[in-house]
Amino acid sequence: MVGRSLAKLLESRADDLYVGYGLKPRIVAVSDNGGMACDTAGLDCARLVRAKEQKGTVAAYGGGGHGGGSSSKGKGSSSPTAAEMAEAVSGADVLVETTPSNYKDAEPGMTNITDAMKRRMHVVSVNKGPLALAFPSLNELAAYNRVMFRFSGTVGGGTPILDYAKNSLSGERITSFSGILNGTTNYILSAMAEGMSPKAALQDARTKGYVEADESLDLDGLDAAAKLVILANWIMGMKVTMPDVSCTGIRGVTSADIKKAAKRNRVVKMTAACGNDALTVAPVTIPRDDPLCVNGTLNAISFTSEHSGTQTIIGRGAGGTETASAILRDLLYIRQGITSGAYG
Ligand SMILES: NC(=O)c1ccc[n+]([C@@H]2O[C@H](COP(=O)([O-])OP(=O)(O)OC[C@H]3O[C@@H](n4cnc5c(N)ncnc54)[C@H](OP(=O)(O)O)[C@@H]3O)[C@@H](O)[C@H]2O)c1
Repeated sequence: MVGRSLAKLLESRADDLYVGYGLKPRIVAVSDNGGMACDTAGLDCARLVRAKEQKGTVAAYGGGGHGGGSSSKGKGSSSPTAAEMAEAVSGADVLVETTPSNYKDAEPGMTNITDAMKRRMHVVSVNKGPLALAFPSLNELAAYNRVMFRFSGTVGGGTPILDYAKNSLSGERITSFSGILNGTTNYILSAMAEGMSPKAALQDARTKGYVEADESLDLDGLDAAAKLVILANWIMGMKVTMPDVSCTGIRGVTSADIKKAAKRNRVVKMTAACGNDALTVAPVTIPRDDPLCVNGTLNAISFTSEHSGTQTIIGRGAGGTETASAILRDLLYIRQGITSGAYG
């Protein structure tokens, strides 16, 4: 979904990205489970999207007549050879990694990212798995190979949570933060607060397509824990991974808990919090008038810093287009880094 949204965004914003930012990316290779499309002269985004939507795989893109897809198998062949793929990516500047997040071994994203860094390619990842399991070592690998590693879309989708804390609060010392970082569980808890049973609220979220194929990622707090790890490393300078998070999901929250909280003018929310060097994901009660108390699939996060008090940023935490827009921000950052001469 995110990869396709990115292709659509690059297509629809081609002119203003070039005129406004000097960005005219040449996409030389794209892969999915069905195979790959590549062309050293550049792939056409609209045609890639058509191949994916009509035939289910980018491998149906067909021969482009330049290097990759068609060079060894004639025009119209569906997928390039591994050698053609290797040739196409050999001169590429950036890998955009959008495979599914998994918190067991982080593959295939982990290998994609480490291979790219070793080839001296900059990396943009929206895949949280590799960062959740190995943020400190991936950052070291990027520094060792002198490449940029960006991941704005991993936390908050298109809402610039990482940039806000890192750049807008630069010079400040953030002492703690707490946030609602998983829209699905927030939707379920919000529906329960309106009187739905846990079962009905989960079913409603499923029907609306909010729940991950592996429900445990949402319901057991793993998605929120992954985002917490990314924030703790990036914002607080901690060197932590998933096992460092104390994680409790929402499966144990009952309608009675919600009613009991409501009597005290409080609401039950699953927060991801960092304070006093502890990382916790758990359902907690917060006052109804707390800025963090957002409903539906919204995300919200409050940063408390030494001198500027507590500030809350709220926005949609997911969505294909929103997350693709975060990838664009990262690509612009990388372009700036390359043109400034800081990176070769
Ligand atoms: N969707 C969001 O709102 C959102 C927001 C923030 C972050 N993210 C993260 O962004 C990533 C992508 O999310 P999504 O919603 O776009 O998921 P998705 O629709 O499932 O897309 C994942 C893509 O990865 C491809 N893929 C899987 N295994 C592969 C392999 N071994 N080799 C090559 N390609 C492979 C899939 O190919 P096929 O299509 O052929 O199966 C699919 O195109 C995830 O890590 C997710 O956590 C998503």
